[in-house]
Amino acid sequence: MAFISLRQLLDHAAEHGYGVPAFNVNNLEQIQAIMQAAEITRSPVILQASAGARKYAGEAYLRHMVLAAVESHPDIPVVLHQDHGASPAVCQQSIRSGFTSVMMDGSLKEDAKTPASYDYNVEVTRRVCEMAHAVGVSVEGELGCLGSLETGEAGEEDGVGAAGKLSHDLLLTDPVQAKDFVAATQVDALAIAIGTSHGAYKFSRQPTGDILAIERIAAIHAQIPGTHLVMHGSSSVPQEWLAIIRQYGGDIKQTFGVPVEEIQRGIKSGVRKINIDTDIRLAMTGAMRKTFAEQPGEFDPRKALIAARQAAQGICQARFEAFGCAGQAERIKPIALEAMVRRYR
Ligand code: 13P
Repeated sequence: MAFISLRQLLDHAAEHGYGVPAFNVNNLEQIQAIMQAAEITRSPVILQASAGARKYAGEAYLRHMVLAAVESHPDIPVVLHQDHGASPAVCQQSIRSGFTSVMMDGSLKEDAKTPASYDYNVEVTRRVCEMAHAVGVSVEGELGCLGSLETGEAGEEDGVGAAGKLSHDLLLTDPVQAKDFVAATQVDALAIAIGTSHGAYKFSRQPTGDILAIERIAAIHAQIPGTHLVMHGSSSVPQEWLAIIRQYGGDIKQTFGVPVEEIQRGIKSGVRKINIDTDIRLAMTGAMRKTFAEQPGEFDPRKALIAARQAAQGICQARFEAFGCAGQAERIKPIALEAMVRRYR
């Protein structure tokens, strides 16, 4: 069983200068697609489950599907990460359930909507680090609120997202504050706000530096070189999949995502984990629409799900390769969580 902690994987990524896509999972076909892509490219994997995924699939189903993934691909190191934990209690449940990494998102209060104070964020994140590190589990925190620099809005995804209009000082992580935050909490990885947001509608035009603040990553990295940076809302929103969805009856307005080249620039400046959910959703939706539109007599959902799985696999393979992850699986010797505990003492 090659479950490893996020800390171990991102330390390796930092040492060798690559980034790791963290794919959100909700069902069997997504997990199979990611694992198949990892197997082909020989990449380590981060599977992450949000509160929405736990609600959709059920925590036990998710856990057993991920166990099946690890059993089926014994040479691929897998991190099981909890995305956007709204409270220490949520993180504690995930740790008990076998997650090797948790995110405590204290940038928002427990309702996952109201921006929280800095002191609240430090306090809840510090508590989770204490609890998680005691059993070798890694912790990702978040400083600054994810949201669009164009509109000031966060957008809501799976129940997570700041409500109302946010000012630029909330939407952009402050590098000096990041240093203080890491020292006070001891997080392993830090999600930063640089203008990205969850979902398909990120940018109304191809993003430039004023709405996607890639430059800020280097400034944050300079303050906290030992902390792994995380880019949320990092789907690239492939125009070719939007076209397929529209061609087969879907209604998706003009929108743009985070270009892969911008993520590659981020990786050069210390980004090690790149969160991707929407791209897999778009590819699967496009493939399913196409299958049923072209074969209107088809009533076996597996036909559409096979196409969806292939489409998702294509996205995953492309990201593993683009982020420099391909070929790294063999170079990682799994460290048991019990041994990770000693690193925090
Ligand atoms: P996307 O919606 O851009 O795929 O982002 C996913 C994410 O950040 C999950 O935490």
